[in-house]
This record gives sequence, C-alpha cells and structure tokens, in this order.
Amino acid sequence: MPVIAIVGGQWGDEGKGKVVDLLAQKAGVVIRFSGGDNAGHTVVNPYGIFKMHLIPSGIFSPYTVCIIGNGVVINPPVLIDEIDELNQHDVDTTRLFISDRAHLIMPYHLLLDGLEEESRGGKALGTTRKGVGPAFTDKAARLGIRSGDLLDKEVLLERLRFILDYKNDILTKIYGISPLSLDDIYRQYCQYGERLAPYIRETAIMLEEALNQDELVLLEGAQGALLDPDFGTYPYTTSSSPLAGGGCLGAGLGPTRINRILGVFKAYCTRVGSGPMPTELKDETGDLIRERGQEYGTTTGRPRRCGWFDAVAARFSNRINGFTGVAVTRLDILDNLTRLKICIAYELDGHTIDYFPANLNALDRCQPIYEELPGWQAPTTNIRQYEQLPVEARQYLTRLEELIYCPINLICVGPDREQTIMKTPIV
Ligand code: IMP
Repeated sequence: MPVIAIVGGQWGDEGKGKVVDLLAQKAGVVIRFSGGDNAGHTVVNPYGIFKMHLIPSGIFSPYTVCIIGNGVVINPPVLIDEIDELNQHDVDTTRLFISDRAHLIMPYHLLLDGLEEESRGGKALGTTRKGVGPAFTDKAARLGIRSGDLLDKEVLLERLRFILDYKNDILTKIYGISPLSLDDIYRQYCQYGERLAPYIRETAIMLEEALNQDELVLLEGAQGALLDPDFGTYPYTTSSSPLAGGGCLGAGLGPTRINRILGVFKAYCTRVGSGPMPTELKDETGDLIRERGQEYGTTTGRPRRCGWFDAVAARFSNRINGFTGVAVTRLDILDNLTRLKICIAYELDGHTIDYFPANLNALDRCQPIYEELPGWQAPTTNIRQYEQLPVEARQYLTRLEELIYCPINLICVGPDREQTIMKTPIV
C-alpha cells in the first residue's frame, strides 16, 4: 500500500479535508504534517458537519490511526475542544496520537500574532491571529515548548520560566502591555498536559510500523502551495511548508517513502488574507462564486477573495510539489455560469510570461491572459460517473489537466463524501 501526500495546490481551502475523509476509509494511518489551527478542514459525513482545525480528517474512519505530526503547532485548548466535540458526536478519539515533538502555541504567541499584525499597519499580512506564525518563529529560534514537555512538569516549568522572561520583555518594553504570569500559564499548561498525556508519544515509530505492515498512510497537508514560505507570495504566506516535501519533515518519514502526491485544487481560485492574486474577480462574477460557494473562512469567517482558475500558478504548484494526480473540488459551484475563464499566462510589462514571479511587485503587475470556455449550465451535484458530466464540464476538466500537466484522479461535486467522481483510481 502506498504513502499518499494530500496537499493544497492553491492558497488553501481547496477541500483537502473532504478528500482525506474519503480516502481515509482505506487508510491505516492519517497524519497531519504542518500548520496549526489556522487551518479549517470542513468534513461532511454521516456523523455530521465538522470544522476540523487540528485533528486529521481521517478520525471518522473507525479503524484509522490519526496522528498530529511533529510539524504541526498545537494550541492545547483548541485541541481539547475539538476532541470534546468529536466525542459528543460519538466519534472515537482513542485512535488519536500527538507527536511529542510537536510545538505548542502559548498565550504569548496569540498576543504577539495580534500585536505584530497591528504594528504592520497597512502592510498587515491578514494572518488568522491564531498564534501560528509566532509559534513557528520560536521553533526556529529554539525558544519553543513541545508537547512532550507537558509530560514532565519540572522540565515545563524550567523551560517556561526561561522563555517567559524573554517574552515578557518584548510584551512590556516593545508593546507596552502587562507581562504574563508564569504561575497562571504554568498551572494552565499542567492541566492541559494531564488531559492530553494519553495522546502524546513518539509517533515516527508508529508510522514506521504502519509502513512495515504495508498499510495505506495519508499525509494530510494544511494551507496550500502558494502560501509556502519559500515559494508562495512571501511575505504574504504562512509559516510552515504546505508542500509535499514538508510532509516528510512534518510527519517523520524519508522522501523515498512517499509514493503518490495528490494536489487538491478548487475548480476556481480563492484566497483569504492579503497578498497578490492575479485572477481575483472584484466584480459580480466574483461575488456570485463567493455566495454560491459560501466562500467564507472556516477559521475566521472572513470573506474569501474569489477568481478564475489560475493555470500558471497551478503549474508552478505542480513544479514544486511533483503531483502524481490532481483532485478538482467544488466543480458544482460553476454549474450556473454561461462562460468560464482559465488564466493560461500572464502579461507582465508588455511581455507574455508563463511563470509565477517571486517578486511581489512584478506579480502585482501581472495581468492574466484568459482562455474562455463555454459553461455547462446544468447541475452536476448528483453525477457520480465522469462520462455523465456535461460535455462542457469534461472539456473544462481536460483543459485543466493539460494546463497543470497532471491527470485528474477525482472530482468533487458537493460537500458530502458521496458527491465525488472517481475518474481514475488513486489506491
Ligand atoms: P497565518 O498562517 O495565520 O500566519 O496566516 C498567514 C496567511 O495564511 C494569511 O493570509 C492567512 O489568511 C493564510 N492562511 C493560513 N491558514 C490558512 C488556511 O487554512 N486557509 C487559507 N488561508 C490560510
């Protein structure tokens, strides 16, 4: 059985949660490998509708082990709430495990995320303010506290005392706000530790055991390629790598172990937060897509910016991920449109280019060059066979395959698990 990385091909919110929920039914292990509770994966299945922020979307599959990998940053109260909510809906969480190497989001990370955003003024990144960026900053600065530290109260206290002194200096001297109390945070995190202790362990070994037993392993990405801190629209990016390569680091397995990489793309583009988006539609069509697709952030409720499918960005995403297949989600949102556009190149300062520039000023100046296709103007939500899709819908999908340089494996025509068309098998 293969290891499949399931990653976002655009700016996040592509519907990875649904795809993982679907494929997890055959999986031995699903492991989340990056991000934090900035992510919001909506899953609609027989248990109900869930907005998952940290727990892998495979948790609904009764025999699947779900791991929050070392590459994720965890805000303990958010995780505890998520566990409680699942339990209230009779979803078993005894198969959930947390890497003891995963870093924790601390109260000062949440504060700093807001304070840093405010100090950026007009250049604010539009972060989710969940403390994710500051937590990854501390990880790199060797100032992090890891979930494993919760298991040893002495280590936790020593670490927290050292770090909080430094953080309080920043809070009081730079931002002029009151310091945080060591005692309060320590006591609070000891309680979280007691609650989460049964879940925390060395998880790379579990992954290795699953691979030795030839089980299907899914690496669940968060966010999308264009938010990658190296390749995305930096600095308007997130702070951990959403790429398939990030899957190795954030789950704890070597690159040779990944067999397939499934890139998840919406049939159009959305972006939440600031930063360039060449195909953004600031017109009625953009509004129509937003309303029909209910394109509002799962985590923050912010309206998402909507636009046509950007094949230049999608090809770039394939280049840096190495997709073996693509999942196209939310095709049904385009059902009513008479004409569709796909961006096939950019015009930059009078030249046609077919790459995604690193320079943000250049990217801002890029004007999309569109190819127009006829819409299908028919409902697709009840279709389950590729051949039954309207010919115009198949034309649109074929064109996407040609432009992304990658075959489509599956197509989603609604939020339910069943509203899926398997074009070619993945497993
Ligand atoms: P942060 O990850 O909260 O620091 O936010 C940085 C940027 O990434 C902002 O533009 C966010 O809107 C965006 N972002 C973070 N997580 C997600 C996500 O799950 N979906 C879409 N955008 C996201």
